[in-house]
Amino acid sequence: MSSLMLGACRLEACEADITTLAVDAVVNAANTSLLGGGGVDGAIHRAAGPDLLRECATLGGCATGDAKRTRGYRLPAKFVIHAVGPVWRGGAHAEAESLASCYRRSLELAREVDCASIAFPAISCGVYRFPAEQAVRIAIDSVADALPASPRMTWVVFACFDEPMLRLYEAELARR
Ligand code: AR6
Repeated sequence: MSSLMLGACRLEACEADITTLAVDAVVNAANTSLLGGGGVDGAIHRAAGPDLLRECATLGGCATGDAKRTRGYRLPAKFVIHAVGPVWRGGAHAEAESLASCYRRSLELAREVDCASIAFPAISCGVYRFPAEQAVRIAIDSVADALPASPRMTWVVFACFDEPMLRLYEAELARR
């Protein structure tokens, strides 16, 4: 496991199913409906149980690049932060800005409820087809830029579902 200290906060990448992590908040790679889907979204809803969908249905959806917070229900995490990443459409449709905004907004919502730890999946890197190497750089850069505004945050985990993704995060963390 490689890690990077930024002030009082440890950033690390690990290979894990994000639904198993004992952190204050897990981030979901959701869609604008917030009503569930496949990939990590499906896994989070299955693990959290049906009350999560009931709360999501009250939120009125979410814009791309933004995020909304719910409770974590049966997850070890207290909160789920549902972030909506961009669908990759070649890179000229503000995909990078939109992805960075997901990480920033997620940290803001975590700060509002005093979270000290948060786990992110590789937002947009699955069915939304964002190129993984660029997405990993954006994930780490945007978290690093936003961290000074979240002094209580002490642990940020980038949960990777497979080994190639873990290698990308490890390389980017080691480069800093
Ligand atoms: N834990 C950690 N990472 C995971 C898990 C898991 N349990 N399951 C998948 N991944 P994706 P997106 C990884 O497709 O591209 C949904 O249907 C996966 O390997 O889940 O943002 C939503 O409802 C990949 O690296 O999210 C939206 O409609 C990363 O998580 C749409 O997919 C993201 O893959 C969002 O697409």
